[in-house]
Amino acid sequence: MSILRSQIAGCGSYLPARIVTNAELAQRVDTTDEWIVQRTGIRQRHVAAQDETTSVIGLKAAQAALADAGMQASEIDMIIVATATPDHTFPATATQIQAALGIEGGVAFDLQAVCSGFVFALATADKFLSTGAARTALVIGAETFSRILDWEDRTTCVLFGDGAGAVVLKAAPGEGTLADRGVLATHIRSDGRYKDKLYVDGGPGSSRTVGFLRMEGKEVFRHAVQNLAETVRHTFAETGLSGADIDWFVPHQANRRIIDATADKLGIGHERVVITVDRHGNTSAASIPLALAEAHRDGRIKRGQLVLIEAMGGGFTWGSALIRW
Ligand code: UT7
Repeated sequence: MSILRSQIAGCGSYLPARIVTNAELAQRVDTTDEWIVQRTGIRQRHVAAQDETTSVIGLKAAQAALADAGMQASEIDMIIVATATPDHTFPATATQIQAALGIEGGVAFDLQAVCSGFVFALATADKFLSTGAARTALVIGAETFSRILDWEDRTTCVLFGDGAGAVVLKAAPGEGTLADRGVLATHIRSDGRYKDKLYVDGGPGSSRTVGFLRMEGKEVFRHAVQNLAETVRHTFAETGLSGADIDWFVPHQANRRIIDATADKLGIGHERVVITVDRHGNTSAASIPLALAEAHRDGRIKRGQLVLIEAMGGGFTWGSALIRW
């Protein structure tokens, strides 16, 4: 049966130049490099310059993805930006990137699912492409979490970083089998009962301020390992695949211990896991496309290989997707 598949045509990323090490943070708050590395695996993170807003860094990632795809911006039908740190409450950061790319047609909008945003945006774009409603899409994860961190709170400020990643999706015919290139399965979930475990304590409709990120780390950790394994098992059940079939596991990069525990639960060897959390920290919706772009660029992820992505974030939200590269 011939169907439409959303194939990855290109992938790119951007990281702000400024690097903040654990040692530098230890001068600001009561923490140590040893504690941060042992509990999270994070050694450093990138922090955006004053003029580097989410749309600025998202644009750079989008341009890199378009160049990798060998495509012009004018060929893009749809832009989805996954972000929890938009430049403005409105208009959408996606429309700013659309304008900066010189695109006048099509549609651009933001999607808010915090750290799960890229998986949600990919799943959304895939629905448009696989039904023929759009032919091409730019899916961008871009964040400037440094702007919503309480730099006095050691339990959160050491965990996050800024960055952006993007993929270009192109609809192409497939046979409807797992041998097709493109997005093969997506699974997204949310459960708002856990809102208070990870949230920002401000917003235009409540405090009229931007607010700061607040988290009950231990609780989030517990749910993360459980929910991430659940969403991937759902994808495995749907496709009949197992951890042994996955060439590259590219998880959301929140904490090395969560990544290792999830890979172990799923039977995925650590040599097949892409890790960036040590150098990027948790970049929320940007972490997966940043990791994809790195492993694509250095030749680890090859055309035709099976790539599994998963993420969990505030809401709670969580999800996974299986892609044949
Ligand atoms: O992307 C969205 C999803 N987010 C996540 O997945 C994050 C999930 N959670 C985590 O990654 C971990 O829970 C953390 C890394 C945030 C914390 O690790 P933990 O092993 O759960 O530590 P904890 O929160 O239980 O804290 C242990 C101790 C506490 O001290 P007491 O109460 O035992 O005396 C904290 O006050 O470590 C203390 N602590 C710190 N010490 C030095 C907390 N933050 C720091 C710090 N430096 N930065």
